[in-house]
Amino acid sequence: MKKKVIYGLVVLFFFSVVQFNASNAFAGKINYKKIFENNCRKCHGKDGKGTKRGKGLGVPDFTDGDWQDATTDKQMITTITNGKKRMPKQGHKLSPEEIKAMVKYIRFFKPKKRH
Ligand code: HEC
Repeated sequence: MKKKVIYGLVVLFFFSVVQFNASNAFAGKINYKKIFENNCRKCHGKDGKGTKRGKGLGVPDFTDGDWQDATTDKQMITTITNGKKRMPKQGHKLSPEEIKAMVKYIRFFKPKKRH
């Protein structure tokens, strides 16, 4: 009898740990790479420079330091949310948090300053 109770508790504990981890993994983390791959890569390219198709539409080169310096986070958020010229709007597909994450991701392409 006692054994059964202990076994039950162990099982319960195990499931609560698994559940806790699962909810953590889905709640907090935004998968930058996946969002970019699915929604942006076909125009902006894996390397941020722009694909052939993207260049034809007039994408900026995300690896260009001057472009990075001249472009504010706010401007990027507006463009990604509402679109701009041939850049399609993403506001209906991505949450504001995901759009902010994309701005961070685009900043990763910024070249390191040469000294
Ligand atoms: C169909 C092609 C296409 C897709 C898909 C696309 N973009 Fe763009 N993007 C463009 C074009 C074209 C421009 C240049 C717009 C302009 O200034 O004329 C642009 C510009 C931008 C800019 C510069 C904003 C500015 O204000 O100068 C950012 C940032 C950007 N895109 C982010 C993204 C992100 C993030 C995604 C995915 C969620 C994405 N784009 C998906 C075509 C695309």
